[in-house]
Amino acid sequence: MRKMTFFMVLCFIFITGGATVFAEMPGPDSASLWNYISKESPYVQWSFWPDHQGMQPGRAPHGPLHKVYVHDMALNSTGTPVQYGSIQVKESYDKDKKLQNITVMYKVQGYNPDDGDWFRMLYGIDGSVKKEGKPKGCIGCHGGSAKNDFILVHEFK
Ligand code: HEC
Repeated sequence: MRKMTFFMVLCFIFITGGATVFAEMPGPDSASLWNYISKESPYVQWSFWPDHQGMQPGRAPHGPLHKVYVHDMALNSTGTPVQYGSIQVKESYDKDKKLQNITVMYKVQGYNPDDGDWFRMLYGIDGSVKKEGKPKGCIGCHGGSAKNDFILVHEFK
């Protein structure tokens, strides 16, 4: 009987603990996501894709230089589609390495199934909202890479 109680307590801790971790992910809205990537889990402490480290040359419309920070959920994905909860944060720089803006792709289950369930954002460097949600421009351009889950800088084998 004692063993059983102990087991149930363990289960309880596991389940509620798991729920807390899950609840920590932001909703698909500009303010929650900005709060998450700038304060709760600062993206500058995340990793890069193994084949896309640090500052890299880029193409329009994103600017001549960029860095793409990758959340663990994306990094630990073994293939496409990447896991829900995956986030990519792209910093775009001008040629003088001055930060210009921040684009984000955040994988949210059921958000936008036709276009990979990505919640897409374009922020100013102060977190101001320039584009939000399902902008046609982002989807149109990244759509060419739909087989790679709309990701362009890292190719899944
Ligand atoms: C005209 C084409 C085009 C448009 C429009 C565009 N992107 Fe991109 N995006 C790219 C290319 C190309 C890359 C690869 C890196 C580079 O060359 O700058 C990229 C890379 C990214 C990355 C890094 C991760 C990845 O997928 O490789 C993010 C995040 C991103 N774009 C978000 C957005 C968002 C959000 C929008 C809309 C606000 C957007 N992009 C609009 C072409 C585009």
